[in-house]
Amino acid sequence: MQKADYDSENLSIVTDKSEAFIRIRGISKKFGDFTAVDDVNLDIGRGELFSILGGSGCGKSTLLRVMAGFETPTAGTIEIDGVDITELPPYERPVNMMFQSYAIFPHMNVEKNIAYGLRKDHVDNKEIAQRVDDMLELVQLVDFRERKPNQLSGGQRQRVALARALIKRPKVLLLDEPLAALDKKLREQTQFELMNIQDELGITFVVVTHDQEEAMTLSTRIAVMEEGRFLQVGPPKEIYEFPETRFVADFIGTINMFEGKVNRVGDETISVESAEAGTSLRALGNHDVEVGQSVCIAVRPEKIFITKHEPDNDDDVRIRGVVDDLGYLGNLSLYRIRLESGKMIQVSSQNRRRSTKRFVEWEDKIWVSWRPRSAIVLTD
Ligand SMILES: Nc1ncnc2c1ncn2[C@@H]1O[C@H](COP(=O)(O)OP(=O)(O)O)[C@@H](O)[C@H]1O
Ligand SMILES: [Mg+2]
Repeated sequence: MQKADYDSENLSIVTDKSEAFIRIRGISKKFGDFTAVDDVNLDIGRGELFSILGGSGCGKSTLLRVMAGFETPTAGTIEIDGVDITELPPYERPVNMMFQSYAIFPHMNVEKNIAYGLRKDHVDNKEIAQRVDDMLELVQLVDFRERKPNQLSGGQRQRVALARALIKRPKVLLLDEPLAALDKKLREQTQFELMNIQDELGITFVVVTHDQEEAMTLSTRIAVMEEGRFLQVGPPKEIYEFPETRFVADFIGTINMFEGKVNRVGDETISVESAEAGTSLRALGNHDVEVGQSVCIAVRPEKIFITKHEPDNDDDVRIRGVVDDLGYLGNLSLYRIRLESGKMIQVSSQNRRRSTKRFVEWEDKIWVSWRPRSAIVLTD
């Protein structure tokens, strides 16, 4: 499928190069022989909420620490707002960092914790009082100003840490797994608070996370990172709908993958013979592939339909299967389907109608089908 086909209101918040607010060029960081960050190039726009997403140990924190000035890069440069900051010490950078374990002082109350950075800089008392009030308002802790950290919930402590990091008005806030210590419900709620605060202040946020749902919810754009490199950078929808590699497709959300060989390349569709699918799989788009080439056809579970009878749309990909397992999740139903080839696939459907009757049961013989335009063609 061509990206132009894709109907999305907000697909390209892509930053114009001339507008790049943070400009990362050829940044590498080695520890001895080990390369933690490998030639990263990236432009981040002013006011973006940019996420760096990847598994544990892929180099996310190291890259963030290089941006903050806590690590010296082995190669490369970083510019913020037109100024090369590569050689500047942390405290001279227009940047603040919020750490994984939010360093708030247990013996200081909320107000004093938030004021700390300004006191250290000898800002005058009247201004400190005003800015602390603004921050308390922003993170909704006005009624908690006298409390000590041990009298706060995890989410409230997280907001104190955020206020502390923001009160010095950095141009860029770096957040390393900011929500990792919160439980699921609170994390979701705090994600929205974080987005609102960022939106209100217009400060550029760079967030490191290993949680793909978090990255999808929060971000204007995401960089997917593996082994020190960026595999793909784009808005959440683009990363989800148009992954460029098997790794990215598999890392973000759930996906069914069928390995096969291209057996026809037409003007508008290609066809891939796949033993795993037990048939030829058509996909839309004139992809840069040749007959005989090994490729993977990938389809998201929500793009697949289940019907009891053979669907009559000849354009759709149609395969026979059996219901191996099904699960009811309230809003969604999940199905595990065993194809005739033996391959298991996942299908999901929204429960739009209110009903206690199931439309298929275990071991039912069914058909799965999808539109050729729903298929993603992966060559890497
Ligand atoms: N100071 C250091 N010395 C040696 N190796 C390090 C150091 N800091 C990080 N590493 C290594 O670099 C890799 C990336 O680490 P990190 O950036 O913390 O990963 P992430 O934040 O993505 O989990 C890891 O293999 C880690 O062990
Ligand atoms: Mg880390």
